[in-house]
Amino acid sequence: MRKTLKVELGERSYPIHIGPDLISESELYQPHIRGRQVMLVSNVTVAPLYLQAVREALSGYQLEQVILPDGEEFKTLEVLNRIFDALLENRFNRSCCLVALGGGVIGDMTGFAAASYQRGVDFIQIPTTLLAQVDSSVGGKTGVNHALGKNMIGAFHQPRCVLADTRTLDTLDDRQLSAGIAEVIKYGLIVDDQFFAWLEQNMDQLLARDTQALIYAIEKSCRCKADIVAADERESGKRALLNLGHTFGHAIETGMGYGQWLHGEAVAAGMVMAADLSARHGWLPKADVDRVRNLLARAGLPVAAPREMNRDRFMALMAVDKKAVDGGLRLVLMDAIGQSRVCSDFDPRLLEQTLNPELPLTGS
Ligand SMILES: NC(=O)c1ccc[n+]([C@@H]2O[C@H](COP(=O)([O-])OP(=O)(O)OC[C@H]3O[C@@H](n4cnc5c(N)ncnc54)[C@H](O)[C@@H]3O)[C@@H](O)[C@H]2O)c1
Ligand SMILES: [Zn+2]
Repeated sequence: MRKTLKVELGERSYPIHIGPDLISESELYQPHIRGRQVMLVSNVTVAPLYLQAVREALSGYQLEQVILPDGEEFKTLEVLNRIFDALLENRFNRSCCLVALGGGVIGDMTGFAAASYQRGVDFIQIPTTLLAQVDSSVGGKTGVNHALGKNMIGAFHQPRCVLADTRTLDTLDDRQLSAGIAEVIKYGLIVDDQFFAWLEQNMDQLLARDTQALIYAIEKSCRCKADIVAADERESGKRALLNLGHTFGHAIETGMGYGQWLHGEAVAAGMVMAADLSARHGWLPKADVDRVRNLLARAGLPVAAPREMNRDRFMALMAVDKKAVDGGLRLVLMDAIGQSRVCSDFDPRLLEQTLNPELPLTGS
């Protein structure tokens, strides 16, 4: 019961292994470690659960470890420095390998440490949240936050391999699992209507953490992101599709204060808003908006923006995203389930309606 898929990026190609109990298998690591030195990076929540199994699988190497505090607020240059301290104190050389054991925060930080230590060393990702397995471990974006902006300091650096161990998801709390499912549903909405229909059929199994269902959903999601990334590694065009629901979602995350809404929760509400706006243009049938809303709700996710977020608040916060792309506001909208496109020619009056909870979508 295991799947392996390859992210095709020329000489930077790498495998993603998906299945239960992968972290204990030495053979999965060995082909990707050049030297003898391995630095394990994890946090205080995940290390007690899974670090021992990883250490045992890597017992033949010179193993050192850094255990960081847990939380997005520690994804900083200052905390990152602890990884460099450990690498230098232990005289790690250029053929060393870093292993990231944890969610997206640990993955992003370890990846950035690997990208910059001695101008770049190898790293292996062991993502332990669903979000990290389906999203942050594919694509090579690494980095840390700055007081003035999230993920503002970073680099593109691909891992040597990814071990997505579905058993590690057993200890994840329900809210984090659902937040990951939001990104899984996103892939169906962007490019794959059959996958969306599969999710409608199998949502209960996913929520019950059924191994087969998880493997399938993770594989499909990684495949989808990997294909998009392979076509557009540095985010000039197609990669923007991955932002479905994110412009609205980022506004909700910022507007509510970081940490109130999980990223996946804000994206879920944002995807309903994107579907709503698409329907108001007559592009997406109203019945499909209902399918989107129903599936997200079944996954335990919010399907509307919080009351605190009125139209003015949205417009002000979305203008920040607009500045980021240097021109008009661009949104990812849908022509059908599984068919999304980046769109700047939407009708601003219809956007106003979407942002106004007093004006629900009607008709069919
Ligand atoms: N690089 C990318 O392309 C990319 C994409 C999406 C998100 N991200 C980044 O990922 C981060 C969010 O990732 P996340 O949602 O995984 O958050 P996270 O890393 O903070 O993990 C969420 C929580 O779950 C805990 N946890 C992790 N694995 C666990 C397990 N198996 N059992 C029990 N608890 C566990 C963590 O300690 C943490 O408290 C953000 O910093 C975001 O910027 C990066
Ligand atoms: Zn996201």
